[in-house]
Amino acid sequence: MDIKTKCIHLDEDTSSDCKHYGAISFPIYQTAAYIHPEVGMSTGFDYSRLQNPTREHLEKVVANLENGVDALAFSTGMAAITAVFDLFKPGDHIIADADLYGGSIRLFHNICEKNGITFSFIDCGEEDIESYINEDTKAIYIETPTNPMMNVIDIRKTSEIAKKHDLLFIVDNTFLSPYFQNPLELGADIVVHSGTKFLGGHNDTLAGFVVTKSEEISEKMRFLIKTVGSGLAPFDCWLILRGIKTLALRMERAQENAQAIVEFLLKEPKVKKVHYPGIKGTKGYEICKKQARGFGSMVTFEAESPELALHILKTVKLISFAESLGGTETLITYPYTQTHADVAEEERERNGITRLVLRISTGIEDKEDLIADLKNAFETFG
Ligand SMILES: Cc1ncc(COP(=O)(O)O)c(C=O)c1O
Repeated sequence: MDIKTKCIHLDEDTSSDCKHYGAISFPIYQTAAYIHPEVGMSTGFDYSRLQNPTREHLEKVVANLENGVDALAFSTGMAAITAVFDLFKPGDHIIADADLYGGSIRLFHNICEKNGITFSFIDCGEEDIESYINEDTKAIYIETPTNPMMNVIDIRKTSEIAKKHDLLFIVDNTFLSPYFQNPLELGADIVVHSGTKFLGGHNDTLAGFVVTKSEEISEKMRFLIKTVGSGLAPFDCWLILRGIKTLALRMERAQENAQAIVEFLLKEPKVKKVHYPGIKGTKGYEICKKQARGFGSMVTFEAESPELALHILKTVKLISFAESLGGTETLITYPYTQTHADVAEEERERNGITRLVLRISTGIEDKEDLIADLKNAFETFG
């Protein structure tokens, strides 16, 4: 089944199942508890912290999109990533790419390290990963493309290193979504998503996912959701299901807009550098072409001065200065003071997250309108 169809239909057609009265839109089971027919008998659902039919349906849809054996829906992307790190114990060592969403770095430094897990933050695309592996190393954690610098990491190559050393390989696939990239097929063990972004797609709901191809990891994650209570609520599950129905259309349109904006920025003399994997002749382009079906709709660029960066943020009208991505609306973010504000100054500088850097997530508006908005911001500077 093509991924465009998978966004709308599961192989097992639960939507036309008599159980749901033939509802085309999967129902929202807004219930906390379920009647037990008899002692020792269950309808399959006992209490919604453990599982709920709407959440179960969403999880099947996402597992199918990523070709995993199971997916688990969490209240946020951070709740999903936190659950994954519960797989590790004090003394374990993780190799993480240095350029990650700032919230993940905050989790690793402030919660995981407090729990005795240690990290080596390295450039997984450039450095020799194997030289950082020690006897306590348990996993490699990356995003690709990375947030916000859009570095592309070779998933297959990294998975071979992970396999050779018996490490778990975890990929945050938020930026390309399952529509453009499926890391489990390229050798990853676990995929995480901020479902808040492209999967939900409307800047209106928070969600997170863990997808795996291992029954053992899935069981551990199910135990955690049941015990910790971080599963996604039924109505939010339904909103994400509705978002996924248009994932293919949104991804294509947003990517078209991103490419138009990249072309504009590459010609703009007040722009120092554009970071986008779809730029031919770059290393990221070659890797992305091999492992993904598209380049996505995230564009990072460096303005010629911090003053210009601030002016753009103040001047754009159609493009909103806001801290998220992957929705129908085009958003512009200042990673230095927003998404990566809690990352130590030296770490930010090392990764290139300076006061010049702006990150755009294109929505599905008309591309000429978006370019006119940006153009006006450049023309009114200085
Ligand atoms: C790449 C990436 N992963 C994870 C997250 C965290 O997701 P959430 O905000 O849904 O907790 C974000 C949030 O921006 C992100 O950009």
